[in-house]
Formats: sequence, structure tokens, C-alpha cells
Amino acid sequence: MAFSAEIIAWYNTHKRDLPWRHTADPYVIWLSEVILQQTRVAQGLPYFHRFLSHYPTVAAFADAPEEEILLHWQGLGYYSRARNMHHAAKAVVAAYGGVFPNRYSDLVKLKGIGEYTAAAIASFSANEAKAVLDGNVFRVLARYFGIDEPINASKGKKLFLTLANDLLDPTHPGLYNQAIMEFGAIQCKPSGPDCGGCILRFDCRALAEKRVNQLPVKIKG
Ligand code: ADE
Repeated sequence: MAFSAEIIAWYNTHKRDLPWRHTADPYVIWLSEVILQQTRVAQGLPYFHRFLSHYPTVAAFADAPEEEILLHWQGLGYYSRARNMHHAAKAVVAAYGGVFPNRYSDLVKLKGIGEYTAAAIASFSANEAKAVLDGNVFRVLARYFGIDEPINASKGKKLFLTLANDLLDPTHPGLYNQAIMEFGAIQCKPSGPDCGGCILRFDCRALAEKRVNQLPVKIKG
């Protein structure tokens, strides 16, 4: 089976049931992705529900006073995320009449939305063929292909982004992106992964070379 098909098959039986996986609304997906940028799923879940109940639309979010948004954000840290969200919500109302964009090229122009978040929103909500590259994806690819190029240097980033886009399933990019992130979070964990029970154990280069714990490589900076 091709790499993407293996990952999707694994996902279909192992995925967690998370609320933002039941929607194609780019506003809701944006909320979840920004909350999860520096926050664990278990910690982010109550915030996701809180924000969605207070601000069911991007227009409601844009209209809220900044102090109120920051109050709801309390406990998550990195308050610039909340300020950037408010700025982006106002821009969506001004530029798109409150219809949250779902194209990568429009999304990256919004404050606080980088390449990862734009690819996540565009692929999950509209199946745009853009690969997500987060810590989970770096780890899965570095190990499976045995790549020791540092993931936090420009050469490595380019190499991994090209590889990630080459592997992307063009017929189900959103599903594949969710699947590889989930695979990294649950199966190909940073430490102590259960390689003996992994579907990719016969083809994993890091496992064959006993380098699972050495990959991915990061340079100090
Ligand atoms: N972390 C970041 N995005 C996520 C998502 N869509 N599902 C689970 N964990 C995530």
C-alpha cells in the first residue's frame, strides 16, 4: 500500500473523535488550529467550546471587545495569538463581508496565520492540496525516510515541505493531513513509540537503522 493509503487506513481506525473534525467551516477550523498552536488537545478543548459559544461567527468575534476576548483566553498564554485573531476577524469582516476565506493564498495574508495554519484550514475545509508541516509531520517523515537534515534550518524545511507535498494524497488532502498529524501524535510519538505495533514497521528506515530516538534532528539556535 502507498504511504498515504497506509496512514489513512490507520487513521480510520485510530483517530480521536475531536469536535473540529466534524465541520467544514473555515472559521471553526481556524479557531481550533490557533488554540492548538501551543496548547495540548485536552487543555484546548474547553477553550474551543467556550469561544464557539460566545462567538458563533467570525462577525461576532470581530465585534467583541478585545478585553473580553483576552479574558476568555486566560490560562492559554501567548496572548498575541488572541490579539492576532481579533485583528484577523476584523479583516475578514472588512475584506470578505464576514465570509471566512478557505483558500491558502487568502488565508496566509491574515494576521497570525502562517503556512501551517493556512494549509490546515484550506485542506480541512476545502480540500485544497497543501501539505501541513507541523512537529508531528516532521517526526513521521524524518523517521520513516531516515532523514537527518535538521528540521529547523532552511534547507531541511524546504526538503521536508517538498516531500510532504509529494506524499499528499491529491484526492483526499484534508483527510490525509489530519491522518499524518494524528499518526505522529498517537503512534509515532516523540519518545517511547510502540514501533513493534506500528503498521509502518517493515518500511521504517529509522527503525531498521535503530535511529528512531535520534530523529528528527534539530540544531540549537
Ligand atoms: N493539533 C493541531 N491541529 C490539530 C488537529 N486538527 N487535530 C488534533 N490535534 C491538532
